[in-house]
Amino acid sequence: MVFHNRHITNTFGLEAVADTYIEYRSGDELRRDLPQAKEPFLHVGGGSNLLFLQPRFAGTVFHNAIDTVEIVSEDASVCLVRAGGGMIWDDFVAWCVTRGLYGAENLSLIPGEVGAAAVQNIGAYGAEAKDIIERVEAYDINGGVKVCLSCEECQYGYRSSLFKREEGWRYFVLSVVFRLSKVRRLNLEYGALKDLDKETATLQQVRQKVIEIRQEKLPDPERIGSAGSFFMNPVVPESKYEALAREYDGMPHYPAADGMVKLSAGWMIDRCGLKGAVRGRAGVYDRQALVLVNLGGATASEIMTLAEEVIAAVKEKFDVTLHPEVQIIKKG
Ligand code: EPU
Repeated sequence: MVFHNRHITNTFGLEAVADTYIEYRSGDELRRDLPQAKEPFLHVGGGSNLLFLQPRFAGTVFHNAIDTVEIVSEDASVCLVRAGGGMIWDDFVAWCVTRGLYGAENLSLIPGEVGAAAVQNIGAYGAEAKDIIERVEAYDINGGVKVCLSCEECQYGYRSSLFKREEGWRYFVLSVVFRLSKVRRLNLEYGALKDLDKETATLQQVRQKVIEIRQEKLPDPERIGSAGSFFMNPVVPESKYEALAREYDGMPHYPAADGMVKLSAGWMIDRCGLKGAVRGRAGVYDRQALVLVNLGGATASEIMTLAEEVIAAVKEKFDVTLHPEVQIIKKG
């Protein structure tokens, strides 16, 4: 279905209107409507990771509205589940937990939709979407055909994938097939999840715990505008981490790919004294410094000015450059 001048939902609560907006419920619908699309193209899920610098997007926004979920196959230990790219991510997690399927529970309550989860490789509490993605079913606009990309072909990394790179823009995610375990297998290594009893914790308890932590630390997108973590956690060489650790006691750090070390941007912003900082109608969230918030009626430029201040402060104090995790839409 093609719309014109349609509002683009975004959790930052900024004004954003698309010249052309195509919502599709199947690959065939997408094929039918594509000739009416004009570039630039932008895929939008729940709009929970976007910052629109301009109120008008003078190209085409695509929204996948396929929200069905079904079991593809199962045996005694594994269940393959296909979820439409337009399904609300947390509805998918709840669906899995209710059916006793293990693997998605640590990713409870992350805002957004299934398709965007596969594009961004969302992650939280020691789990990433890629850990349970079997394959992604997409429409290739170059060939005009439906294709299946294995998890490996999606080239997943920390908050990155093929779909976020230039060569991946040709693929429009239709649905995602997840590999879930029917056998009890929980990942309770991360921070507050360690409180749960490894032997007896149930899927529901893990989901509940994750929901509690998120509700305590992160703003409710229904009440406070934000896009979750504004920055990615920076990944630095081990020598850089060691130099910082000598200076800053207890600096949180996590192993990353290729012997690199992931630092905690929230911790660094906090140590710069910026947690809770308010600049006009934009702020650094007072319970989690990695999140920038719209305190009510903020403009995109107020948020960007604050983001630049944060980047400069962290660079000055730690000599580490932060990069946005949020997708910044510069022009239409
Ligand atoms: N910390 C502070 N002060 C703060 C924030 C954090 O000292 O203001 C410290 C914490 O005490 C902890 C460390 O920094 O030692 C890490 O904090 P946290 O566990 O809250 O996680 P994060 O690294 O800040 C990442 C993800 C979140 C995800 C959490 C939990 C990114 C960009 N963000 O945040 O994802 O929920 O881990 O796994 O990787 C998102 O992507 O939008 C998002 C919310």
